Amino acid sequence: MFLGIDVGTGGTRAVLIDRTGVVIASHSSEHAAIQSEHIGWAEQDPEDWWRAAKVAIAGVLVESGITGGEIEAVGLTGQMHGCVMLDSYGEVLRPALIWCDQRTQPQCDWLTETIGFERLIELTCNPALPNFTLTKLLWVREHQPETFAKIAHVLCPKDYVRYKLTGEYAMDMQEASGTLLLDVANRRWSSEMAETAGIPMSWLPRLFEGPEICAKISDFGAGATGLGAGTPVAAGAGDQGAGAVGMGILKPGSVSATIGTSGVVFASTDKPAMDRLGRLHTFCHAAPGLWHVMGVTNGAGLSFRYFRDTFAPAASYDELSFQAAQVPPGSDGLFWTPYLFGERTPHLDAKARAVFVGITASTTRAHFVRAVLEGVAFSLKDTISLFAELGIPVTSIRLGGGGARGPLWRQIQADVYGHPVDLLEAEEGGAFGAALLAGTGVEAWPSVEAACHATVRVAESIQPKSARVMEAAYAEYRKIYPALRSIGNH
Ligand code: XUL
Repeated sequence: MFLGIDVGTGGTRAVLIDRTGVVIASHSSEHAAIQSEHIGWAEQDPEDWWRAAKVAIAGVLVESGITGGEIEAVGLTGQMHGCVMLDSYGEVLRPALIWCDQRTQPQCDWLTETIGFERLIELTCNPALPNFTLTKLLWVREHQPETFAKIAHVLCPKDYVRYKLTGEYAMDMQEASGTLLLDVANRRWSSEMAETAGIPMSWLPRLFEGPEICAKISDFGAGATGLGAGTPVAAGAGDQGAGAVGMGILKPGSVSATIGTSGVVFASTDKPAMDRLGRLHTFCHAAPGLWHVMGVTNGAGLSFRYFRDTFAPAASYDELSFQAAQVPPGSDGLFWTPYLFGERTPHLDAKARAVFVGITASTTRAHFVRAVLEGVAFSLKDTISLFAELGIPVTSIRLGGGGARGPLWRQIQADVYGHPVDLLEAEEGGAFGAALLAGTGVEAWPSVEAACHATVRVAESIQPKSARVMEAAYAEYRKIYPALRSIGNH
């Protein structure tokens, strides 16, 4: 049995699976709300992730009735890019600036000016974006120099939980790709990036491939969680990398569209497929020898949650979706752009704002809901359009995350992508993939591909029904951002 732990944004989830991919137990614990002192800021307390991880692991042990010693290996995954700063004793120095924090555009501009846009892409395969870890470190250097002076270790969120479980500072290649400090093409830290940015290499953890065993549960970790001391821990991957493994996205042509808080369209590649304009992320895959590209919508599931919390707090997502299903595809001309936290793909614009366009006196709440679901799918379609532009093949699309759970959002996605979409039997997100990486690490399977082959199964395929209408609607949607770009915060 293998345990995957996913340190997400909203909560931490632990999933226990067997060698056939059957989920034996899963348990989640919510995190405290994101702290946002100013618009665009987003911070979380790493100690809260550790608290939630302990609850999630304990929950799985109780639910399954097994002892920690029966777990053969543990794999970790989690929200990517967050900057956890520790002192030389391994103590947290300040709350982590997390992936959706948008305050670091000035630091991105500085990096781009100092290094040059093209050179940045050559060194890291990616442009400087506020989401990426390095930019957050540079903000702390500029605004909180006394904290910066005490930094001895930098980790991403799940790697902090690993540190608590094992005492080791380690990171996998896929996660490290999102720090802007990795030479993604050569799978090693970029000394040129670190030097130019003024970040000591000694702060960076040791690097491993996703399935590599990088540590063991320590006595402290065992005492805190009930896991067995000495249990092997695989490096794992960021949520997108592990999620892709859990969905079997390893061969060129197989693509996933995952709507969680953020939304990601992900394709596996056998070499780093750089977008010279930096609109897609080019990262190492969680499987050794592979890379991936992905486009990210910052506010995907977040759009639906934001709409419900703000305008229909008493309604459930199912109720709202049921009402939205009565509205025709295209929402009678109402559109939503999901730029609640600026946008990454395709605009790379931290200041982009979300808007509804096309309200009339006949527009109902159900129209707004449908427009939100469609707007998120249009935004993911922007990545699929970029894949076409860059010659990245799309032969199958598998759905993941909350966007795969309701029938309406699934159908909307098939219609907007103009492509059949597949649902998987067990769609357990990153935690499932992290458990597969752990199992591969202890040779339960000879490779990540073999692990996916043994455990990932398609349950259902959904055909597009209104692809023509949605193609026309998408063409209208594409006009909104350029038309409104100069209004407001720019
Ligand atoms: C990926 C990304 C998000 C976060 C949070 O680049 O920023 O997917 O990992 O889920």
